[in-house]
Amino acid sequence: MSPSPCTSSIIGTGSYVPERVLTNDDLSKIVDTSDEWITTRTGIKERRIAAADEATSDMATKAALRALEAANMKAEDIELIIVATVTPDMFFPSTACIVQKKLGAANAVCFDISAACSGFLYALQVARNFINTGTRGTALVIGAEKLSSLINWKDRNTCVLFGDAAGAVVLKRVCEGEADAPGRVLSTVMGSDGNLVDLLKVPGGGSACPITAENAESRPNTIHMEGRETFKHAVTRMSQAAEQALELAGLQKSDINMVIPHQANARIISAIADRLGLPEDKTFMNLQKYGNTSAATIPVALDEANREGRIKRGDVLLLVAFGGGFTWASTVLRW
Ligand code: UT7
Repeated sequence: MSPSPCTSSIIGTGSYVPERVLTNDDLSKIVDTSDEWITTRTGIKERRIAAADEATSDMATKAALRALEAANMKAEDIELIIVATVTPDMFFPSTACIVQKKLGAANAVCFDISAACSGFLYALQVARNFINTGTRGTALVIGAEKLSSLINWKDRNTCVLFGDAAGAVVLKRVCEGEADAPGRVLSTVMGSDGNLVDLLKVPGGGSACPITAENAESRPNTIHMEGRETFKHAVTRMSQAAEQALELAGLQKSDINMVIPHQANARIISAIADRLGLPEDKTFMNLQKYGNTSAATIPVALDEANREGRIKRGDVLLLVAFGGGFTWASTVLRW
């Protein structure tokens, strides 16, 4: 197959985090933990918690509006909305359809993607396929999570790790003659291993285990994770995916200007940076402020890196994620 003459370009980024800050010290008042344990084992200092009446679609809409503003586009210009989330407002309709309504994006086709923490990069690749093939010309790709709604606040193994946030990008079809367009997606690799579904999951609340009066007490509708095992797979899979995405883009590790990795644990991020031979100043980290926000982590980090001037036009960015499933993905961008 000859290569498509058109590619996808990120022309705007946006993000939103809720106002309420929950610090490690706050958590140490509700479970047997400490700022010292959380900081040394994870790097997290605080996380944001959405208001009771603030749904995933509300955060997603705010992030999307910021991305649209940055792209200088109106909601009606958008032809595709994909929301990556494991905390949809409800089972159906999709959160993407709810965001469509809130934005007034009447011309978009809308659906959600469930790939846990890799969800945003999965969604970006799906949108890219729509755009590169000419099926759609513009897309809003959003990662948004209200993980606080899936947390057992009595489980210190998990409640200290997660937070709420949303991030978004506007993707646009760019054809010959615009070859130097910014934010070009150069390559993506994706993978999954369903044999490991049990290591990181929310076992209850779906069709396999509906919540009943009998099981509600044991909180099956909250996050369960085998942390140590997940950690090992995360380092291996993200490092491999990063190298494969670079190779697919025809680039070397030394070409990378900034890695934006999934923000689950500072030790995982350091291990990946080590394997890629990258110094700290080329590794973006904001998990100290937000914790792990699953599908929202990468678009929030990308938006922050962009707005803080940490990345500049022409830079090679490597995005890499890992999550429940297990799923993993890596994308190389020419900013
Ligand atoms: O986003 C998807 C991908 N997610 C990840 O990649 C997360 C990967 N996993 C991790 O980041 C780490 O495994 C954790 C941060 C979850 C845990 O760190 P760890 O160094 O692997 O700790 P551990 O699970 O081996 O637990 C060590 C000890 C245990 O005590 P014992 O059994 O050794 O006495 C835990 O009970 O730390 C204890 N512990 C805590 N202590 C204080 C676990 N959570 C806490 C806590 N405060 N919050």
